[in-house]
Amino acid sequence: MMIKPTAVRKGFIGPILAKVAEGGFRIKAMKLTRLSLEDAKKFYAVHAGRPFYGELTEFMASGPIVAAILEKENAVQAWRDFIGATNPAEAAEGTIRALYGTDMGQNAVHGSDSDENAAIESAFFFSQIERY
Ligand code: CMP
Repeated sequence: MMIKPTAVRKGFIGPILAKVAEGGFRIKAMKLTRLSLEDAKKFYAVHAGRPFYGELTEFMASGPIVAAILEKENAVQAWRDFIGATNPAEAAEGTIRALYGTDMGQNAVHGSDSDENAAIESAFFFSQIERY
């Protein structure tokens, strides 16, 4: 998962990590870092060609982010359910995106969409010795 630049800027790292714990997710790896535009394009390569790709990658490179690997039974789906719909305006009450998201692009947090992509995205940020 990632905490996106706007949420970091607004001081929501703490509240979001409190929700992570509340949801029963265990933090296996975590860092505060900043993506270059090139990194952001690589990370979101699956969306290359979509109309929002430029806006999304520029936004994700606009400031520091928190990246983390979370562990839980069926973690990918559990995290997607927990954070709420992609558009914060449609996210269920009490979910991270409803509470801390601004709009479709600045939606507070990222979640992997499959186990396969979760493994690829984890390797993007963390080596084996950074995982506990
Ligand atoms: P995320 O979980 O990070 O995965 C891809 C991101 O693309 C998604 O959250 C949204 O922030 C963004 N996204 C998806 N659809 C749109 C859209 N129509 N306009 C802008 N951003 C979008």
